[in-house]
Amino acid sequence: MTKQRFLITSALPYINGIKHLGNLAGSMLPADVHARFRRLQGHEVLFLCATDEHGTPAELAAAEAGQTVEQYCLEQHEIQKAAGEGFNLSFDHFGRSSSLENRELTQHFAERLEENGLLEERVSKQIYSIDDKRFLPDRYVEGTCPKCGYDSARGDQCDSCGTLLDPLDLINPRSKVSGSTNVEPRDTAHLFLRQPLMENEIRAWVDAAKDWPHLAKSIAYKWLDEGLQDRAITRDLKWGVPVAKNGVSRPGFEDKVFYVWFDAPIEYIGAAQEWAKKNGENWERWWRKDKGADDVIYVEFMGKDNVAFHTVSFPITLLGSKEPWKLVDRLKAFNWVTWYGGKFSTSQKRGIFMDKALELMAGDYWRWYLMANAPESSDAAFTLEGFQAAVNSDLANVFGNFVNRITKFANSKFDATIPEGGAHGELESDLIKAISEKLAEITKYHEEMEFRKAAAETRALWVLGNEYLQTKAPWTLFKTDLEASATGVRIGLNLVALFAIAALPFVPATATRVLDALGVPSEKRVWTDGEGWLEILPAGHKFEVPDLLFQKIEDEQVAEWAAMFGGAE
Ligand code: 2FM
Ligand code: ZN
Repeated sequence: MTKQRFLITSALPYINGIKHLGNLAGSMLPADVHARFRRLQGHEVLFLCATDEHGTPAELAAAEAGQTVEQYCLEQHEIQKAAGEGFNLSFDHFGRSSSLENRELTQHFAERLEENGLLEERVSKQIYSIDDKRFLPDRYVEGTCPKCGYDSARGDQCDSCGTLLDPLDLINPRSKVSGSTNVEPRDTAHLFLRQPLMENEIRAWVDAAKDWPHLAKSIAYKWLDEGLQDRAITRDLKWGVPVAKNGVSRPGFEDKVFYVWFDAPIEYIGAAQEWAKKNGENWERWWRKDKGADDVIYVEFMGKDNVAFHTVSFPITLLGSKEPWKLVDRLKAFNWVTWYGGKFSTSQKRGIFMDKALELMAGDYWRWYLMANAPESSDAAFTLEGFQAAVNSDLANVFGNFVNRITKFANSKFDATIPEGGAHGELESDLIKAISEKLAEITKYHEEMEFRKAAAETRALWVLGNEYLQTKAPWTLFKTDLEASATGVRIGLNLVALFAIAALPFVPATATRVLDALGVPSEKRVWTDGEGWLEILPAGHKFEVPDLLFQKIEDEQVAEWAAMFGGAE
């Protein structure tokens, strides 16, 4: 197979608080599964993510925590990084959108856009709080939603009906800083990105995109068909990328910064620069088409609410710069994971967040359930009962039991050594054929980023092993036909190795533990199809029995967790 280069990015989690399992399932986790799969295939992978640190949510959360925003972001970045490590997310770099690299890149893009006539300074009305002596952008203002009447709609969006809002739309606006209603619209200058000027170019690019799923294309066309709008890309805030050139503020913009949604996607490039600096690597061969990135396949993972930003707004920044930046090739978008059909909520104690999940069970357990039930064609409900069933049935009974049974038997009867001898019969030929077909299917689904199907077929692969052992019954043959028993054991142990390799993208910690116990050398820990798996462990090779792979989840645990995090009502 030709070796290719994959740039893989996941949506950048907002800094304000640890993410819940739904956030994990809708971008970071599938991106990791795909990165692991592509590495196993032998491709070169650069997998990047970062915390999205600017904007009003960060400032407000810091104020609530009684910290400076810098302190708050640093602390929260470390917390999110540790949670990612707990789930074995194999980022090559987990950066920060507040990095110097991103600051310089963001200022660079704004400069290029202005040179190309795509930026305009314009005065517009914004809500000003007389008591707080400041403008109130986005979430700094709350009021009644003009669409649904919800009385705590935020300036940028109504949480009740989902409508995107301008702070000026709110009825009875009030300051989130002081609660004051002593507010009025005042003139203030901002930079506007003239998106309509790029409409034809973006449409042609979307038309030409071959590898986007239906969900991504339809969202892009919806925005294009509604007509692109000029978009303010600056805000009256302190925390963010300053509107400056070479360290000198743009006149009139001393108290303004770029809008978080302008600088956040640029951090995908920033993170590559941070990674390159830290590791003595070259970032340009991943991002600049004139510096070798032309043959990179860029794959992005995100929730559906991010799609417009990545099919329209960010490409406008990149194409509008008139510089040869790499653009996304494949875009995998997800629906939502709900908590029993409702929203995850910290304040209402509904749902499990990444840090708490790791206190209950190791990362692999959650990884498997979330990917086997990925919210691909529709929203998917997380339920503790579903989690328990998937863990107990797929991981413990199917995968775990298979490994346990054959390794223990081979340990006691064949001295923990792969036995020689024994011919293949019809049962083996059928198995080998079925395994080849199954591996081809799993490979296809991984390549197509169909995670539910890839997980279902991985489970089906494990089932083939159980069926073979059940029929072959090497423990019975051991008393009557030692050669035939040896065949069953040798094939069974090689299946253990194969099953663990196939499991690596989904449950990497456990699969690695199995491969370590078997003593599978690193050069053999590669994605296999066909019949190569029969030779992973040669006759005479010694192995150890791995510790129990997965603990079953008991009904009492489900009841206890439901009481802690809210369960079925
Ligand atoms: O929706 C979100 O969680 C954003 N923080 C994602 C930003 S991804 C990127 F575009 F920067
Ligand atoms: Zn509303």
